[in-house]
Amino acid sequence: MKFRSKKIQAKRPDESQIMTRKVVSTEHLNPHGTLFGGYLMAWIDEVAFMSARRHAGVPTVVTVNIDNISFLTPLKLGEHIMLTARVNYVGRSAMEIGVRVEKEDPYTGSTLHTNSAYLTFCALDKSSKPVAVAPLLLDDPEDLRRYNEAVLRLKVRKRLKNHLANKLKSSNKKLRSKTPDIRRKSELWVGQLKNNLSKLTLRFEEFDIIEKVKSFKPF
Ligand SMILES: CC(C)(COP(=O)(O)OP(=O)(O)OC[C@H]1O[C@@H](n2cnc3c(N)ncnc32)[C@H](O)[C@@H]1OP(=O)(O)O)[C@@H](O)C(=O)NCCC(=O)NCCS
Repeated sequence: MKFRSKKIQAKRPDESQIMTRKVVSTEHLNPHGTLFGGYLMAWIDEVAFMSARRHAGVPTVVTVNIDNISFLTPLKLGEHIMLTARVNYVGRSAMEIGVRVEKEDPYTGSTLHTNSAYLTFCALDKSSKPVAVAPLLLDDPEDLRRYNEAVLRLKVRKRLKNHLANKLKSSNKKLRSKTPDIRRKSELWVGQLKNNLSKLTLRFEEFDIIEKVKSFKPF
C-alpha cells in the first residue's frame, strides 16, 4: 500500500455527491418493452465512478465490487431516472459508494425510490497499485448511519472474497491437472493427421507413376 507524501485532507460525503438524470429511450428497452437491466447497471457504475473519482482526487479508480442489485419496479419508455451517488465509507484505498435510483415524474418532479446499489472502488497510482485516498469526515448523523451500515457490508464482502478466492484456486487447480491430458490427445491427433497426409501423398505419387507408365511409348 502506497501513501501519498502530503497529508491528505479529509472530505465530507456531500463534497463528492453526484446526481445525474437519464431518459429511458427505445434503444434501452428489452424485448418486454421495459428498461434493459444492463443499461441501469452501467448508469449506476458510471455515476458511482464519478463520485469515487471526485473523492479520491486521483485519475484512476476502478470498480472492485458491486453488491446485489434488485430490480423491483419496471422502468418504462420515456420515464425520467434520477441517480444519486454518495461516498458511504472510505478505508485506505477503497471507497464504498451508495447509489440511489429514483423514478421522477417529469411534470411534478415527485419521485419513487426504485433501486439502491453499493459499489466498491479502489484508487490506483500510476503503476496500478492501490493508493490511499482522503479519509471521510462524518459530521452528519445520516452519513454516520450510512458509514456504520457500510462497515457491516464490508465484513460480509471480506468473507465472500475469501470464499470466491478459494473457489477460483481449486477450479484453476482442476484445470491445470486436466491440461496434460488435453495436450496428449491433441499431439495424438496431429500425429494421426500427419500419417494420413503422408499416405495420401504416397497414393498421389503412385497415381502419377501409373499415369506415366500408361503414357509411356516405346521407340
Ligand atoms: C483493485 C485491485 C488493484 C485490488 O488489488 P488487491 O490485490 O485486492 O489489493 P488490496 O488487497 O490492497 O485491496 C485494495 C483495497 O480494495 C479492497 N478490496 C479488494 N477486493 C475487494 C472486494 N472484492 N470487495 C470490496 N473491497 C475489496 C481492499 O479491502 C482494500 O481496501 P483498503 O485499501 O481500503 O483497505 C485489483 O483487485 C484489480 O486490479 N481488480 C480489477 C479492477 C478492474 O479492472 N475493474 C474494472 C471492472 S471489470
